[in-house]
Amino acid sequence: MSTATTTQHAIDRATCAALDAADPLAPYRDRFALPDGVVYLDGNSLGALPRATAAHVERVIAEEWGVGLIRSWNDAGWFEKPLALGDRIAPLIGAGPGEVVLGDSTSASLFQVAMAAARLRPDRTVVISERGNFPTDLYVLESVQELVGGAAPLERRLIADDGPTLDEMLDEDVAVVVLTHVDYRTGRMHDMGEVTRRVHAAGAIMVWDLCHSVGAVPVDLNAAGADFAIGCTYKYLNGGPGSPSFIWVAERHHEAARPALTGWHGHARPFDFDVEYAPAAGIGRFRVGTPQLLSVAALEASLDLWAEVDLDQLREKSLRLTELFISLVDTRLAPWGVEVVTPRQSARRGSQVAVRVEDGYAVMQALIERGVIGDFRAPDLMRFGFAPLYVSHADVWDAVAALEDILATEVWREPRFARRGTVT
Ligand SMILES: Cc1ncc(COP(=O)(O)O)c(C=O)c1O
Repeated sequence: MSTATTTQHAIDRATCAALDAADPLAPYRDRFALPDGVVYLDGNSLGALPRATAAHVERVIAEEWGVGLIRSWNDAGWFEKPLALGDRIAPLIGAGPGEVVLGDSTSASLFQVAMAAARLRPDRTVVISERGNFPTDLYVLESVQELVGGAAPLERRLIADDGPTLDEMLDEDVAVVVLTHVDYRTGRMHDMGEVTRRVHAAGAIMVWDLCHSVGAVPVDLNAAGADFAIGCTYKYLNGGPGSPSFIWVAERHHEAARPALTGWHGHARPFDFDVEYAPAAGIGRFRVGTPQLLSVAALEASLDLWAEVDLDQLREKSLRLTELFISLVDTRLAPWGVEVVTPRQSARRGSQVAVRVEDGYAVMQALIERGVIGDFRAPDLMRFGFAPLYVSHADVWDAVAALEDILATEVWREPRFARRGTVT
């Protein structure tokens, strides 16, 4: 379906149900333990729980930890897990075997690679990012600027809608460009190949944050010729709260790249217990210390499921869902001034849609009370993520219908919806 070919009145709930009946990915919904009565549109923040995860984690706890004890480092392959699971993430991001490894938090992994990237351009003095980038990326870059620059911190240039463009900022001083492929607020997607090409033309290194891309849109890091990437696994990959990040480094940089954190799991011979650090060959040098194996186990269960997914079908469905949502918002929510801020051009859109709504926080709380879960980003954006493995077309219909009712009845004005939790 495309907005150009769908007439506004042709969509009703029966149309959505028919799309679900014809959806090749529909069977995946049963593989997730979603609560009854919930329309879950926040998989771009925390992915849903795969049904297989609890039993797998329980087995790892009972057998590998409980019975295997310390022996499981060898017998259950614990030591190699970050590399083994990295290889299973690789096909989702256009990476080759031996190019991906699990990391710590995404923030820590960005620090790990951004330092390595900046050190590959020691004579350059500038880092570029976007004002609208997820703040942790900018905070991490501040550390990189100080640590790499020393007495004269690296200069930071930020792309902004009302400021200079990337092309205007790129020059021979730029060491590294760090961008998030799919914007966390608006869902706008960069052209990875084109941006990487321009960055390389200026002689700089390209680092991509794939938090809102992996499992959401097709990504081909090697085709784009990118240098470094990181991403999280707790959103579209459904690895569970706090599941480990991943790190990708293009093979051509493996020998020269020196990670920021040189821990013993990244050592060439960790069990020699040498006094001096010697980096492991390949991507393994980006490891730091003991992995969070219970979180790794939860991720492993989810990756079993991902191994079956056809990524072309995933993208097709993602676009159908987001187009349907945009079209319903346009036709049904216009009277309340609800404005879609996500690009309408499909090539520029990830798998989420943000709408601008005055008092969006309270409206979102009212929506959540009805069982439609999205989230809110200040000052006025309601975000909706469409994880194609478990969101249906009928869910999209029901979400917009609930939102329409909340706006029409103004139930969101009730004081309880204005109360703010720590996490929005
Ligand atoms: C684009 C982006 N980068 C980084 C992060 C932060 O990741 P972490 O909390 O895992 O360090 C997020 C979190 O949502 C994000 O959206």
